[in-house]
Amino acid sequence: MTLSRRLFVQGSAAIAATAAGASALPGLAPALTSSTSLAPSTEGASGLVTGVVKPLPFAELPGFLGKEQLRWHHESHYGGALKAFVGFDASPTGNHRPRVQRMNSVLLHETYFDNMTATPGNAGAATNAALVARFGSFDTWREDFATAAKAAAGWAVLAFHPTNKKLYHVVTDSHDDGPAWLGVPLLVIDMYEHSYYLDFQNKKADYVEGFLGHVDWQEVERRLRACQG
Ligand SMILES: [Fe+2]
Repeated sequence: MTLSRRLFVQGSAAIAATAAGASALPGLAPALTSSTSLAPSTEGASGLVTGVVKPLPFAELPGFLGKEQLRWHHESHYGGALKAFVGFDASPTGNHRPRVQRMNSVLLHETYFDNMTATPGNAGAATNAALVARFGSFDTWREDFATAAKAAAGWAVLAFHPTNKKLYHVVTDSHDDGPAWLGVPLLVIDMYEHSYYLDFQNKKADYVEGFLGHVDWQEVERRLRACQG
C-alpha cells in the first residue's frame, strides 16, 4: 500500500471537495448511486487520497471470479464504502466509529483487489523466506491462512507487525474491530459473502482455494520489502 501520511493529508482537501453528495447515514454502507464518482483515480492512489474509486486492476479472474461478481463487489461495496467515508470525513469531529468503519473497508478492499492477479506465479524470495521463518514451511503457512479465512465472516489478513517484525494471521468480522494496530497487511482476503456468492454460493472453501491460486505474489513481495526497508 502506497498511502503515506503526507499524501493522506494532501488528499484531505480532495476528499472534502467530493463530500457534499455523500450520504451520512450511519450503520450501512449505501449502495452506489449514479451520483457517486467512478472516474478512475490517478497514479494508483487510494480512494482515501483522491476521493474517487481506485479502478479494478482486471475485469475478471478466469477460473475464479467472473466480471459480474467483481464489478458488483467493486462498485457497490468498495464504491459504497468510499462514498460514505468521503461524507463522514468532511469533518474530523464526530462519526468516529462509522468513519473508521468505512475507512478500513476502503483500505481492505483496495488491498484485496490489488493482491489478486489472473497470472499468478510463486511467492517471492523475501516472502517465502519470511513465511518459512515464521510458519515453518510454505505449506504450513498456506494451511493456516486457509483456516483463518474459513473461520472469518469478514476478513482474514496476513500482516507484518512493525513492532516485533513478526507475521500474523488476523481475523476480523467487521471493519471497525479487531485490527492489529500499526500492522501492515501483506495479503488480504475478503470473506464477506458478497465477495464470492455469485460465483461460489456457499462453497466458502472453494473460494478460499481459488483465492490462494490467484495471489499476486509480486505485490506481496513489494509490500514485505517496503516493511523490511
Ligand atoms: Fe467486500
